[in-house]
Amino acid sequence: MTEPDLAGGIAVLDFGGQYAHLICRRIRALGVYSALLPHDTKLSRLEEMKVSGVVLSGGPASVYAEGAPRADSELFEGKAPVLGICYGYQLMVKAHGGEVGRAEKREYGRSSVKVVEGGGLFDGLRGDRLICWMSHSDSATRIPSTMEVLAASDGSPYAAVRLSGARQYGVQFHPEVSHTEHGQEVLSNFVLGVCGARKTWSMESFLRTSVESLSRIDGRVLCAVSGGVDSSVTAVLLNRAVGDRMQCVFIDTGLLRKGEPGLVRELLGKDFGVRVAFVDASERFLGALAGASDPEEKRRIVGRTFAEVFEQYAKEHGPFAYLAQGTLYPDVIESGRSGGPASVIKTHHNVGGLPAGLSMKVVEPLRELYKDEVRELGRLLGLPPGAVERHPFPGPGLAVRVVGQVTEEKLRICRDSSDIVEQVLKEEGLYASAWQAFAFVGDDMVTGVLGDERRLGHLVTVKVVESVDAMTADWSRIDPTVLERVSNRITNEVQGAVAVAYSISSKPPATIEPQ
Ligand code: XMP
Repeated sequence: MTEPDLAGGIAVLDFGGQYAHLICRRIRALGVYSALLPHDTKLSRLEEMKVSGVVLSGGPASVYAEGAPRADSELFEGKAPVLGICYGYQLMVKAHGGEVGRAEKREYGRSSVKVVEGGGLFDGLRGDRLICWMSHSDSATRIPSTMEVLAASDGSPYAAVRLSGARQYGVQFHPEVSHTEHGQEVLSNFVLGVCGARKTWSMESFLRTSVESLSRIDGRVLCAVSGGVDSSVTAVLLNRAVGDRMQCVFIDTGLLRKGEPGLVRELLGKDFGVRVAFVDASERFLGALAGASDPEEKRRIVGRTFAEVFEQYAKEHGPFAYLAQGTLYPDVIESGRSGGPASVIKTHHNVGGLPAGLSMKVVEPLRELYKDEVRELGRLLGLPPGAVERHPFPGPGLAVRVVGQVTEEKLRICRDSSDIVEQVLKEEGLYASAWQAFAFVGDDMVTGVLGDERRLGHLVTVKVVESVDAMTADWSRIDPTVLERVSNRITNEVQGAVAVAYSISSKPPATIEPQ
């Protein structure tokens, strides 16, 4: 496995905390490259990589628990700049002979922290009371004499500390969370001040170096596009780098959002001159899905059919040397693959459910980026706001938004109702702040009354959620008058839809998609 090129940047060691990714994103927002590395990465390796500093993330374990993730003990010897956050901080305290215990008062959510000493980390904030985000049941209960207190809260007398004479700090709260006041300033003080990290990370420089390295690709490139942000940005980026040697293919599964083929034709074909082939496979997908109602079975059928149609296209129009994919950084990390600039191009023969028979090298130009960075890159490439702000859409498409068997009628109701949800939110200026907004439909039939006639029709459920990474999500507290507009339009305009419900479940326990 290759490692990211972190020279001059900040390594975040991953102890399993839910905010580990967020730390990287916040550091990148400071213009400094940052990536996650395994929690047991040795100091010697980090020195070889020439990192400017190290952040130890939070994590769910207790430092005394058997099998709890440990850091290389040399990290705590004071040589390299280190910032321990929550669990990472507790590891520091333990390594220096202090004690960590169940806090007298558990702290979840907002907590008031008093800064008693600037000490590098809080420069400019001394004497302030900050609202900080805490999420812990363990905390430092005794710190060694080699550590000095920089900040305290009601529940944590040692809310922030510094190792005397070293550029090493520990904080019990989460500076990376947006609810923490001046959190970005604390991170900036550490990254730019304490570590002196280099500001080399910007989307402009990423775009320049990507086009340069991608233009060295020889042979033809095949790129599947769906109308989504990631594949659109991938296609436009590659188009700039390799031009006519790229062929895009758009497979119409019949399970897509309303007007998708037209949108792709307009955006990629007309605006950017990208070569896109359109394959209408909707009948084949609907045929394959006939009778299936189990969500996982439907996912498998869509995946398999997609692979078959794609393979057929590649064989008939090939050979292609490369397959381009819009894989993002969180997907790379979550699937256990690590990488970076040195491995923009990797050889794979069977990625993302593609048939083993298709031997193409895989090129993933976005594999270092987070979603918000991809959107920024899209803007730089000249994609219009409407294209870069589009909400994520699941690979299996409407097959997982139609609950139960997938029929033409339910697909139409689902597609048209979702389109209305999107239109109304856009008109109300609420679309961009929502993570996803759509409608789903199942087999619940309700009685309605139309004129003098009673009529049985479908119940449509509208869902609008807010989220930062789709790992957790909350339902949007939409103004009832907006919901009323959505409801009226759906029941008036979508034939077969008789009533509308609004989903008020968060994730967890529900997932974002209904299936
Ligand atoms: P859930 O429903 O698990 O979804 O809360 C989290 C995010 O992932 C998207 N999603 C999928 N994307 N294939 C995909 O490519 C899938 O099978 C799939 N299922 C869910 C979903 O839209 C949300 O953004």
